[in-house]
This record gives sequence, structure tokens and C-alpha cells, in this order.
Amino acid sequence: MKVIETIVEMNRLRLKLAEPVGFVPTMGYLHDGHLALVNQARSENSTVVVSIFVNPTQFGPTEDFKSYPRDIKRDLAMLEKAKTDIVFMPSAAEMYPPRFSSWVDVEKITEQLEGAVRPGHFRGVATVVAKLFNIVRPARAYFGQKDAQQMTVIKKMVTDLNMNLEVVACPTVREPDGLAMSSRNTYLKPEERKAAAVLYQSLKLAQQLWSQGEKDAEKIRRQVMELIQKQPLARIEYVSIADNETLEELDVVKPPALVSLVVKIGKPRLIDNVVLE
Ligand code: PAJ
Repeated sequence: MKVIETIVEMNRLRLKLAEPVGFVPTMGYLHDGHLALVNQARSENSTVVVSIFVNPTQFGPTEDFKSYPRDIKRDLAMLEKAKTDIVFMPSAAEMYPPRFSSWVDVEKITEQLEGAVRPGHFRGVATVVAKLFNIVRPARAYFGQKDAQQMTVIKKMVTDLNMNLEVVACPTVREPDGLAMSSRNTYLKPEERKAAAVLYQSLKLAQQLWSQGEKDAEKIRRQVMELIQKQPLARIEYVSIADNETLEELDVVKPPALVSLVVKIGKPRLIDNVVLE
């Protein structure tokens, strides 16, 4: 496994890589959710490149950029074990030199959900992912369904800007109690960690209501919220039932519909979703 820190070095190495190249962008502090992406990339490509970069431009001024968990040594050991070929680990100055001034703005689908409460977030995500795609030039790039809107935004960017690669969506990896794995779960105190199981329980309730024939989105939304509100440590930020492509809110559920929610428990904002097929 090679660890590369500069774009010049990555460009030089890129010329010699066995095709196809599979790419997994991450912000590090890896867990089994990230590794599932790496494993899938490994099984479908000759070369696997993983990036670790905590991207400052996708964090708001009051968000956790400075305190975002980092453990490079552990990450590298995990990636080595997963048979990664190259880890690209640039500094912020390498990715955003002085007078950096070009941005990728995906319109419309970034106005709802996470985009509505985290202004500028998807501009930062789309910009850094476009830069990483240009540097790594993969045939396939792997993203988790856990960040459903992020995946939709990346797919739209790739289509709209004619980027020549395939975006592969990977299922959400969960803890035994259903909590979606996340680097930010580490912020949860033991009591909060237990309470966090309510996110997936409420999403399963939505799925159950839908499979029993309920099509009224407001009724499903309300029952999901009532279940979460029973958990005293949980504060709902939003519960949404939206068209899975346009991300516009639905009155009547029409599959595929994305049920997504953000709940604050203690410090972290926990995000999760299921798709009603
Ligand atoms: P990060 O949060 O590190 O996630 C990297 C990738 O892992 C994303 O595609 C995310 O959806 C996926 N992932 C995270 N938790 C997962 C889980 N429990 N199951 C399956 N996949 C999971 O997302 C980012 O970083 C950044 O925004 C990035 C795309 C790297 C741009 O900076």
C-alpha cells in the first residue's frame, strides 16, 4: 500500500496503475461502513484508491471541522488489511492553495434536507469530490446510501458535467441494534448511544406502515416523529418523506420515496434514511 500526500506524486503514479481504478473518498476515522465500500471496490477493480481528507469547505462555521475525529494510524492499518493499493491523503493547503476560487454548485436538489440546514455544505462536497475525481480519474467511485442526498448530488454532478465514471451506491452498514455506523457516533455517551437506536426503529416503522398500505406521507411522518419523541434524549431536526430523485417533499407516497431524518442526541446530529420501494 502506498500513501501519497501530494497531487504531483498522485499524477505521476496514476500513469502506471492497472485499470480499472475504483475510488472510495472518505474523511477518515474509518469504520465497517467505509470498509464495505473499500471491499466492494476491491472486488470490482484492479486498483483501489482511498482518499482521506477532512474537507474544510463542507463544514459550516459552527460545525465540527476542528474536532472531527481523526486517527490516521488506525485508518492506514485498516486500509492495508482491506488490500487498498493507494491512500491519497492531501493537506488542506494542497487541495485549496491561496486564491482558490472555482466551485461546483449543484442546484435544486441541494436546497432541501441537509442543504436547507447546512448552507454551502454540498457546494463543498461537490467541489472536493470533483477535484478528487480529476486527480484520481477512477472508472468507478463508491458512495454510501447512508448519505442519500450526497449520493444523489454526486450522481447529478457526474451526469450534468459529463464526468466519465460510474457512481456505485452501497447499502448502509449498521450496528447490531440498527444504528447506522458513523464516525460521529464516537461523540455519543453510553446513555445516548443506547437512545440512538430509536432512529432506525422509527425508519423501520415507516417501512412497516408503507408495506401495510399507508400512502399518506403526513401520517407516516407523524408516527415516525411520535416514536422518536418518546425518547427523551432525542431532538428531531427533520423527518422527511421525499421523491428519491428530485428530493421534493411528498403528500402521497410514490415509490421510490426517501424517508430521511436527522436527530440530535447529545452532541452529534445523527442522519439516517430508508427507501420505500
Ligand atoms: P465520510 O463521512 O467519511 O464517508 C465516506 C463514505 O462512506 C460516504 O460515501 C458515506 O456515505 C459512506 N458511509 C459512511 N457511513 C456509512 C455506513 N454506515 N454504511 C455505508 N456507507 C457509509 O461522506 C463523506 O465522508 C464526505 O462528504 C466525502 C464524500 C468524502 C467528501 O468530503
